[in-house]
Amino acid sequence: ALRGQFFDITQVGASAQNLATNARHITDGLLFLNGGTIAALLPWDEGQRMLRNETDYLDYRDKLILPGFVDTHLHYPQTEMIGAYGEQLLEWLQTYTFPVESQYVSHDHAARMSAFFLSQLLSNGTTTALVFGTVHPQSVDALFSAAERVGMRMIAGKVMMDRNAPDYLTETPEQSYQQTRDLILRWHKRGRLNYALTPRFAPTSSPELLSAVQKLREEFPDTWVHTHLSENSDEVEWVKALWPEHASYLGVYHHYKLTGKRSVFAHGIHLQECEWDCLQHTDSSVAFCPTSNLFLGSGLFNLKQCMQKGVRMGIGTDVGAGTTFNMLQTLAEAYKVAQLQSYRLCASEAFYHATLGGAHALDLDTKIGNFQAGKEADFVVLDPAVTPLQKLRYANSRDIYEKLFVLMTLGDDRNIWQTWVDGKCVWQREMLEVAA
Ligand code: GUN
Ligand code: FE
Repeated sequence: ALRGQFFDITQVGASAQNLATNARHITDGLLFLNGGTIAALLPWDEGQRMLRNETDYLDYRDKLILPGFVDTHLHYPQTEMIGAYGEQLLEWLQTYTFPVESQYVSHDHAARMSAFFLSQLLSNGTTTALVFGTVHPQSVDALFSAAERVGMRMIAGKVMMDRNAPDYLTETPEQSYQQTRDLILRWHKRGRLNYALTPRFAPTSSPELLSAVQKLREEFPDTWVHTHLSENSDEVEWVKALWPEHASYLGVYHHYKLTGKRSVFAHGIHLQECEWDCLQHTDSSVAFCPTSNLFLGSGLFNLKQCMQKGVRMGIGTDVGAGTTFNMLQTLAEAYKVAQLQSYRLCASEAFYHATLGGAHALDLDTKIGNFQAGKEADFVVLDPAVTPLQKLRYANSRDIYEKLFVLMTLGDDRNIWQTWVDGKCVWQREMLEVAA
């Protein structure tokens, strides 16, 4: 068992008010694990009686334990290009992204970068992610193999694209169908791994390619769909020009039956009212990627609208357009994006989005996202105050909500003490400190 301070959100909710009501804070609790499963989270007084002997627990009383963070959108092959200067989306893709992604034709490169990528996720407390590979099937083989070794719950897929990209990254719809199908058969539902059909976005897809995606989704209805939607104004205009017969950007995906539960659309910044309604009534999800949207100058995600419409939503780092793997820093930027639109993102809502809300957006909320008994034992042990400024500010915080808010405002990877996946500690800061 682990003894410490715990915080989670016990139920999926639709408003900041009911999320606050569903927040659970246990100042001194015991978390019991049964292998990779959570057996119980109890206050010390109750849990103590279940210990085999009085000291049979790991003592984390100066730490804060949260459910593992869920990153609902990022690109592992873009790890090596974070901070590419000067461009907005479409030029950024041409200038920086496509050349970098070409390197994943090499399985060795993909394997090396997969290991690095997973260590970045884990050292930032992220235990589940929905991930883009490149067009190369070997990129996804490498990532899934690495995730399987760690025991992580991960959803990923190879990019599908057949136009408006360099020749070295495009394929035919038939190849795309066949290679994706092979990957699904190899990886989907193998342990904790799941497959996402990953057409890059409408501009790099022909009608035939989206038909191939539709066909795969009909053949494998429990796979995920993962793509980009309405991120940048020039992109939205380009979609209108390429797909004049469709009334909206989301309308293109909807036409090919790619909306629905387990469909995750990254960004959704420049949406019309009818697109919000379509997301809502199809039960689709959006990934809010604040650092990316600011870095590429894409725009401000309308969190208030999303909450009012009751659209499933999770937070994405969107590395490498996003500027960090760290969920605390990402929440800080989400708060500022909301502030610019007069929406108050409180700490309980923010941490909900980063944990159970993200799990709900991925349709994984029955498996991960909080400390409910029976769920998978993925969690992060935080050191809530590591710098002099954090220590000062922490000491001056009244309650857990203020502490969490300060943590997301001032926090970063230094606050991640340990990351547990499948009931095992898979990363810890101590090792880093000893090595340094
Ligand atoms: N739209 C299409 N591809 C991409 C990508 O790689 N990153 C981002 N941020 N948006 C995209
Ligand atoms: Fe992206």
